[in-house]
This record gives sequence, C-alpha cells and structure tokens, in this order.
Amino acid sequence: MCGIIGYTGTKNSVPFLLQGLRALEYRGYDSAGVAVQINGGINTVKAKGRIDNLEEKINSSEIKTDGTCGIGHTRWATHGAPSDINSHPHRAPSLALIHNGIIENYAEIEEMLSAEGYTFVSETDTEAAAKLIDYYFVRLGDPVKAIFEATDVIRGSYAFGVIFDSYPDTIYSIRKDSPLIVASTEEGGFIASDIPAILSHTSSYYQLEEGIVAIIGKNNVSFVDRKGNESSQTRLTIDWNVEQAQKGGFPHFMIKEIHEEPEAIRKTVSTRIGEDGLPDFGIRELDIVRLSKFKNIHIVACGTAMHAGLIGKNIIEKIARVPVNVDIASEFRYRDPILSKDDLVILLSQSGETADTLAALRHAKSKGVYTLSIVNVIGSSVAREADSVLYTWAGPEISVASTKAYSVQCALLYLFAVQLARACGKLSDAFAKELCRKLTEEVPEAISKTLELSKEIKNASRHYLASEHLFFIGRGIDSALCSEASLKLKEISYIHCEAYAAGELKHGTISLITDGIPVVALMTEEFLAEKVISGIREVKSRGANVLAITTKEIAEKYAIPADKIISVPEVDEFFAPFLLATVVQLFAYHIAAGRGCDVDKPRNLAKSVTVE
Ligand code: G6P
Repeated sequence: MCGIIGYTGTKNSVPFLLQGLRALEYRGYDSAGVAVQINGGINTVKAKGRIDNLEEKINSSEIKTDGTCGIGHTRWATHGAPSDINSHPHRAPSLALIHNGIIENYAEIEEMLSAEGYTFVSETDTEAAAKLIDYYFVRLGDPVKAIFEATDVIRGSYAFGVIFDSYPDTIYSIRKDSPLIVASTEEGGFIASDIPAILSHTSSYYQLEEGIVAIIGKNNVSFVDRKGNESSQTRLTIDWNVEQAQKGGFPHFMIKEIHEEPEAIRKTVSTRIGEDGLPDFGIRELDIVRLSKFKNIHIVACGTAMHAGLIGKNIIEKIARVPVNVDIASEFRYRDPILSKDDLVILLSQSGETADTLAALRHAKSKGVYTLSIVNVIGSSVAREADSVLYTWAGPEISVASTKAYSVQCALLYLFAVQLARACGKLSDAFAKELCRKLTEEVPEAISKTLELSKEIKNASRHYLASEHLFFIGRGIDSALCSEASLKLKEISYIHCEAYAAGELKHGTISLITDGIPVVALMTEEFLAEKVISGIREVKSRGANVLAITTKEIAEKYAIPADKIISVPEVDEFFAPFLLATVVQLFAYHIAAGRGCDVDKPRNLAKSVTVE
C-alpha cells in the first residue's frame, strides 16, 4: 500500500527513486510518480500503471529530471481512481508532496483553502495536505513550522515526504500512524516507507517517531520536535541483506518464502527455548508465575495473521484450557469489546504497521489491558507500542500473500500455548520439553520433507486451473486452516473459494455442490477423521471432485473416498497443521502460477495496509 522513497545527495536522484519504487512494488500500487528539484523549481512526472510506464514517461519526457534531490511514490488508490492526475507527488505553489495514509478531514481543508483562493485538480485527499502546508509556508516562511501547523489541522494517518522549490537538497518528513524510515548514507540521505527501498544503500536507519519532523540533507539528517528542539531518534540495524530480499533462483518470492519456512520456524522458536529445554520468552509477564494471571486471551489481527490467531486459539484452548477470543482488528476497534484487567491482548502482524491492528492495540491499551505483539518487522509501530513484543524471525516477506510469516506466527503461538499450559498446571515440564523439542527440530524437518511434495501438488493443481469455485472443508483445527487455505487461493488465483467446517456444509452450503465442483478436505486430527470422511461422502454423492490432504497415519488407516489423496510426511499429529499449511500454500501457488497470475503482486491487494 503506497510506497514512499526520497533521495538527496550528489548523484542524479531518478535512478535512486526508480530503484526504490521497484523495491516497494510488493506493497501494492496502481500508479507512480516522481518530483525532482531542478534549477530552483520542481519537475514532476506521474503515470498510471506500472513503474515501467513511469520510467518510459521519464525517458521520453521533455521535463528535466536529473536533479540530485527528489521524492517518488507508488499509489494504491483510495480517494479517486488510479490516474496520472491522482498520482503523487502532488504540487502546491511552493512544494511537492508524497503521502501514505488517509486525510480524513480533507474536504473541510479544501473548503477552507478554496476560500483562500486555492484550486484543486485531483480527486485525492492528499492534495489538500500539500496545499495546506503551502498555505502555512507562505505565511510563516519556514518549512518545519509550516509542516507542524498543517499537521495540527490534519486528521487521519500520514507519512509525508515534502520538497520545497526554495529549499534545495532537502527533504522534510513527518508521520502519524503510517510508517516512515530515514537513513543517512555515504551516497546521500533517504526517506522510505519500508526497508527494501533503501536496503542496497545502507544497513542502518531511523524509524521516525510520530510528531517529529525529519530534515534530510545530503550529508546529514536532523530531527525537530513541535517546540523546535532537536530530537534524538534511535538508530536501528537491518538484520537481513539484499540477497534475502531477492528471489534467489525461485520464479516468485512466494515460492521462495514457502521454502524458507523450516529455517524461519527454527530461528523463531529455538531462540525462545531456555537451557532447560522449556520456553523462555525473556518477558516478565510471560514467565510461568505471572502468565497464569491472565483469565482471557484476545488475539487481534487482520487477514492471514488473523488466521494464525485461529490456529493459536485452537492450540491454547486445547492444552492450556484458557478461553481465547479471536477478533478481526477492524471489528475489535469499534465493537467495544469486553476487556478486563486480567485479560491479555495479543496483536499479530507481519508488518507491524497495519492500521486496524495498530488501532486495536491502542484501544486495548486505553482500557489498561496488557498487550503483547507478535511482529516480524523490527521497530514497527505495533512492535513499539505494545507493552511487550515477540519478534518472529521470518526475515523479509515480499510476496503480498503471506506464507512464512503465517507459519512463524503459528509456531510462536504454539510455544506460547505450551508456556501457558505449564503456568496453568495443565502440562508437566517433561511433556512441555518434548513439545518444545518437536517444535524446534521435528517440525522444521517435516516441513522440509513436505516441500518435496511440491511437484505432486503442482501436478494435482492442473486439475483446478479452469475452476471458478472451490470449497475447503475440515473440522477442529483444520477448519481454521481451511480459512487460510481459502484466503491464499482467492488472493492469488482469483478463484472464488469458501472455507467450511465440514459439519456445517449440510446447513446450507451443500446446495452449491454440483457435478465436478472441487472440494479440498483437510484432515489432521484422527479423532475427527471419520466425521470428515462423512462430509466427503456427502459432497461426493452430489458430484464433487474431492482432494483430501491429510497425514500419513490417517491416509493409511482410513479408506478416504476422495478422488485424490495427498499425504504429508510423518509428524506428531499435534503439529500436523504446519505441514498442511505448507501444502495448501503450495497448492495456491501452483494454481495461481499455472493460471498465469501475477503471484507476488495480486490485483488490488497491498502487502501492508496502512489505512483503515
Ligand atoms: C494485508 C495483506 C495480508 C496480511 C494482512 C495483515 O491484507 O495483504 O497478506 O495478512 O494485511 O498484515 P500484517 O502485516 O498486519 O500481518
């Protein structure tokens, strides 16, 4: 969702801007643009569609774009359709501005500025911000003061990058509820919405704090607060390299990232197991004594992360017997959830910047509830604002469809469940130790073996390339897995999918089952196998074509009446959902790739949804 890049240095800024924008493509966008300072003015080039269109336009344009200070943006349309005019940067008489976020009171601002003689050419909310800063700049003659005055008026979320005609070689930036990082390198200064945009230039950056203006020059950056005082920002180190953020020989990021799951889980879990072989999170509230004080747990997240929460609920309730409520963050924030001081709110987020998850976190905090975030991006807003954070060590996830981030979130929730079960006296240390060992050693190994099924899954996927509808069915924890399987396939293949608890089918959905309709049945829990098999019989007798994905044990023991069975390598049944998750991810991948879809950048979707 909207990408920001800015460069000021001694070299032509355009290659830096284009390279940064390309590195941010995965966030999702539908138009792009750049603005560059040239001879006391600013030139802007914008284009609907891919960055290639922008580059072509830059190359064929009369406009000079070889200045050494510029800003660039990929826009994911919210206010106004994707078009050249609605693309950023937006111009005001004294400046050009790029924006990530939503200005909620833009109509009011436009009305106020119209009365002052301003006119508006785009349908965007952003143009109001550009002109409001201009309005104050004309009156105050100072960029920093103008930005602070304007942001006092603006309601909503924003990360701004601003260049002024009359302040050469300098980029100004401020943010609220939208991410923005700043870096000072030997090549020059940068702003960006996300690490990949600057990764090839530096391994350290500042995560800009809210309410601080960053002033980025060629050789140095400085930070100023509302009172005009210098502010110190923490320098963070990027712990992954360019290679990790590249495809490494795989045709798509998604398939590469699925293959990284064993290592990601190993890294995430093993660093949380103490010398005694038991969980050790290094967080006071998660130690065995304090953990038992939590009477209810709320897991709050969006999309795939929310589905990891559903897996977590199953496991926590199963072994710790503590009630878990899983909420969609966008609902949680407005439904006035019943929260008590004895509750724990867990926020799950790959990016740590999802606007709804952040708002849910703030809501929980405002009620005095202890918040724990499980986040993949170091220093992100959700990570910083929660009372405590557990990082998932998945490394960069570039593909919009989340895979390895889901697996590591599930792994941390398993580990958390083990610790909670111990705290509640439901699990002996010996058994807990055994579960920890299996999670660190056997699960990654078994996932590695599961990856060897990729060819078989690809062959099976051919059957679905022309499908328009598909159903996933499962019971117990597999019904949670079905939700993720269905989301994955929908997101990237555009096939309409439904996820159903197998026992619920006959209460309505079975009316949609006709000759040849594909149904995928997931089965990991042996005690439910016969129940799911009944569900398979029900849909088979109505003409469905059934693929069963199950464990080796179930496949060997039961006569599954499916058209095709894929069985995963041997693993403790308790951990089998990890292997099935990998299979359904591969299944979605091969179908989408086989249909010729843009696997890593599905239409209309954004990797990090930083607006409500
Ligand atoms: C977007 C992405 C999903 C992701 C969700 C939550 O919708 O397309 O892949 O699961 O946001 O993102 P988060 O970064 O909070 O995990």
